[in-house]
Amino acid sequence: MAFTKHHALAASLLVSQIAGQSGFATSDRSDDAFSFVQPAEWPILGPYGNSPEVLPSPNTTGHGGWEDAFQRAQAFVDQLTVEEKALMVTGAEGPCVGNIQPIERLGFNGLCLQDGPLSIRYADYASVFSAGVSAACTWDRDILHERGMAMGKEFKGKGAHVALAPVCGALGRSGYAGRNWEGFSPDQYLTGIATAQTIMGFQDAGVQATAKHYIGNEQETQRNPTFAKNGSLTAKDQEAISSNIDDRTMHEAYLWPFANAVKANVASVMCSYQRLNGSYACQNTKAQNGLLKGELGFQGYIMSDWGAVHSGVASMEGGLDMNMPGGLGSYGFTFKDAGSYFGGNVSAAIRNGSIPESRVDDMIHRIMTPYYLFGQDKENYPLVDPSSVPLNTNFGPRSQWDRQDWSAMVGGESSRDVRSNHSALIRKHANAATVLLKNANNALPLKAPRSIAIFGNDAGNPTEGFYNQDNYEFGNLVVGGGSGTGRLTYLDTPLDALKRKAYEDGALLQQWLNNTLIAESDVTDLWIAPEPEVCIVMLKTWAEEADDRESLGFDWNGEAVVNSVAKACGNTVVVTHSAGINLYPFADHPNVTAIIAAHYPGTESGQSMIDTLYGINNPSGKLPYTVAYDGDDYNAPPVTSVGNNTGQYAWQVYFEEGLEIDYRHFDAKNIDVRYEFGFGLSYSTFELSDLSIEPVQTDITSEPEDLPIAPGGNPALWETLYNVSATVTNTGDRDGAQVAQLYVAFPDSAPEGTPVQQLRGFEKPYLCAGESKQVSFEIMRRDLSYWDVVSQQWLIPEGEFKFSVGFSSRDFRVDGAATVVDA
Ligand SMILES: *[C@@H]1O[C@H](CO)[C@@H](O)[C@H](O)[C@H]1NC(C)=O
Ligand SMILES: *[C@@H]1O[C@H](CO)[C@@H](O)[C@H](O)[C@H]1NC(C)=O
Ligand SMILES: *[C@@H]1O[C@H](CO)[C@@H](O)[C@H](O)[C@H]1NC(C)=O
Ligand SMILES: *[C@@H]1O[C@H](CO)[C@@H](O)[C@H](O)[C@H]1NC(C)=O
Ligand SMILES: *[C@@H]1O[C@H](CO)[C@@H](O)[C@H](O)[C@H]1NC(C)=O
Ligand SMILES: *[C@@H]1O[C@H](CO)[C@@H](O)[C@H](O)[C@H]1NC(C)=O
Ligand SMILES: *[C@@H]1O[C@H](CO)[C@@H](O)[C@H](O)[C@H]1NC(C)=O
Ligand SMILES: *[C@@H]1O[C@H](CO)[C@@H](O)[C@H](O)[C@H]1NC(C)=O
Ligand SMILES: *[C@@H]1O[C@H](CO)[C@@H](O)[C@H](O)[C@H]1NC(C)=O
Ligand SMILES: *[C@@H]1O[C@H](CO)[C@@H](O)[C@H](O)[C@H]1NC(C)=O
Repeated sequence: MAFTKHHALAASLLVSQIAGQSGFATSDRSDDAFSFVQPAEWPILGPYGNSPEVLPSPNTTGHGGWEDAFQRAQAFVDQLTVEEKALMVTGAEGPCVGNIQPIERLGFNGLCLQDGPLSIRYADYASVFSAGVSAACTWDRDILHERGMAMGKEFKGKGAHVALAPVCGALGRSGYAGRNWEGFSPDQYLTGIATAQTIMGFQDAGVQATAKHYIGNEQETQRNPTFAKNGSLTAKDQEAISSNIDDRTMHEAYLWPFANAVKANVASVMCSYQRLNGSYACQNTKAQNGLLKGELGFQGYIMSDWGAVHSGVASMEGGLDMNMPGGLGSYGFTFKDAGSYFGGNVSAAIRNGSIPESRVDDMIHRIMTPYYLFGQDKENYPLVDPSSVPLNTNFGPRSQWDRQDWSAMVGGESSRDVRSNHSALIRKHANAATVLLKNANNALPLKAPRSIAIFGNDAGNPTEGFYNQDNYEFGNLVVGGGSGTGRLTYLDTPLDALKRKAYEDGALLQQWLNNTLIAESDVTDLWIAPEPEVCIVMLKTWAEEADDRESLGFDWNGEAVVNSVAKACGNTVVVTHSAGINLYPFADHPNVTAIIAAHYPGTESGQSMIDTLYGINNPSGKLPYTVAYDGDDYNAPPVTSVGNNTGQYAWQVYFEEGLEIDYRHFDAKNIDVRYEFGFGLSYSTFELSDLSIEPVQTDITSEPEDLPIAPGGNPALWETLYNVSATVTNTGDRDGAQVAQLYVAFPDSAPEGTPVQQLRGFEKPYLCAGESKQVSFEIMRRDLSYWDVVSQQWLIPEGEFKFSVGFSSRDFRVDGAATVVDA
């Protein structure tokens, strides 16, 4: 989803953005490690050449459980005129962030598409849930589903048919990428499960989910082309960056969570802005026709990201089913009168024979099948809340777009409160996502201290409103920017919550919120002696769409704030609100006794911090990525400059590291890390025992059985081959949850580039002190296979697989081995 800054609506300003005059092309990051100059030996499109052509676009049949709804969709399409068909596949300016116009003649009330992955963005009286990165930290399937379903209920209550969520691309190739926090984890297995659970949650609530962004959208810099300086929307100076991804990496990393999404029956997939192997993602026939609709058997529709369409007939042939938001070109959606590659061009192309009408029919079958499947045609499906309409900043002032009758789509009571008791869920989800990184001398949980000091600009109230699209200095940060943001109806800040607690305990609470002041001061001059029993330092890190992060550090001089406080306070507890990966250079400071990473927790930020600090919550969150010692330890940085290369195709990024991103990279290169993937402390202690590895099938072959494709791909890939189980025991004196993680090391016969070990299972039991529970991990064929580029097949390599179960990727407690394929 594209976004325009809330206040940046004037057409003239947009024109200057389109013309590349306001920072779309290169970031001002000065670090040389990020500059990229195209080597002379690389041809314009790079060694990958163009993406292979896969035509025609497969028809949907509704198989896999959607057959009845598909028939209803067919009956609907049979009644459409050619002009109406064009309207059905082309967005229109309207009340929602994306709109398909009503066709009242057929009793069709239109489709309302709304952002985003943690909240319904254009709405009042709606909740802001934890962000994807926080949800990933829970490693909890039930919470991921519950969160998706609660959001789904709010979207439906506000009259949205389609939620533009969840995000499973960006996967997180680089920690700098601006949208990682909207999604889950750079581990495709964890992201795959998080994606599927979220989709099922939304769809169980009756709202269509959209897996986005397909595919290879791993950086924001130059995600869109830069257009000619004269403002022409078709004349490009430089094309968008091309993510050049080899076939194996595509299957085993970036496509992997989309397979989970399709298997979970996702209604829609959103194609991404950038190019893939040289061809724009929304017209990439290999990615859309070949991989998604062919290999994965996707039965829903592909919609474009906002303005990601760069052709008409080629995109339709290439598998694109819906052009959003309808206007021309990148960021061209504010210029309705500039026309669309779809719209009238679709009917013209049908009439002059350049696109078969059956292809357009298939596009609409795909769009309408989920609509009937989820009963969105029913009388009682809520209409769009009238209060959402003026909050829609996507099309500029309403007077400029509201030229048609939207009364079939908008109506009912205005400002409906859809929040229910979701605040309780948000608190629960935030608690389960809290990652305790350090806890020296049992600093936590706090034991009713009588003197507390809190420091940092992340502690208090935001001073610039509750719909933030800027990295504002003052205020608790619980959500990032861009289309993935949410409009807060309230925010329980850490300072609010700590005040309540201090009042209850009769404690002295002192506060300093100005980072510059704290960093420059001797804090002993600030506080009332004696030294507070605990000093809480609140740090934050912003990220937003359309921009990559400039560093992995904390914003607003956060490290200096910690150092200033820790110099004087022997019990310094650091709490961070962050988009994702940070370095923690102060982690070894003896006075920094505890560190909590809360990421973006949603509206119950303050209470959830208190819950963990005071032991109401026993932390059980686990890092969904790796925290390195040094920023240079990470590989695969975004390409942020092409130097002096002004060539049309200058922007290229080669995913040469293959599968080795995040922990797979650190393991392959044997690099020590500060906090490994999967790490997180508890107030209790746990043990693992009794590993058992039971084959569920006998006579397992290397190749999967060749079964007819179903949603998710060859069903044989999803068959359980092994059942691994182990016993988790809470050996401490506090109740709490723990995540048992299963990692698999492939045999040596697996091809070069196979990661040292890969997450292939996780379970999160809740255990009372002293209690034991058995957990089991069902290992599917896909989990034990690699993608063989020659045979174009998933193969299980011969030899011994090693299964290790532990509490992080570098803390194994039990292991065993099995030879899967009988040679
Ligand atoms: C990208 O290029 C690689 C190398 O030629 C090829 O193996 C792969 O199938 C291509 N993928 C797509 C989606 O074009
Ligand atoms: C899709 O169905 C139409 C008939 O509706 C048929 O003409 C066309 O060949 C089919 N396309 C594919 C790729 O099977
Ligand atoms: C804008 O510039 C492009 C070339 O950079 C040219 O093809 C196009 O005709 C120009 N458009 C206008 C309206 O001047
Ligand atoms: C058809 O597409 C072209 C761009 O190729 C655009 O300029 C024109 O306005 C479109 N026509 C309609 C009717 O939208
Ligand atoms: C048919 O119409 C489409 C859409 O307007 C246009 O792009 C294409 O060039 C036309 N083809 C012919 C042969 O006229
Ligand atoms: C929220 O409300 C629902 C229905 O009103 C109820 O079933 C559920 O237990 C409540 N959940 C919490 C966490 O209070
Ligand atoms: C924060 O502190 C610095 C240093 O004392 C001061 O210059 C600045 O004005 C303060 N900011 C605010 C908003 O008070
Ligand atoms: C730790 O804090 C104490 C005050 O409690 C201070 O005297 C000491 O110098 C600090 N240590 C460091 C390494 O800054
Ligand atoms: C870019 O061009 C400038 C001016 O010609 C030159 O000084 C500089 O070295 C060039 N940079 C690169 C990376 O080629
Ligand atoms: C896996 O093993 C556990 C524990 O023995 C058992 O409860 C579960 O039913 C087994 N699952 C399968 C698919 O065999």
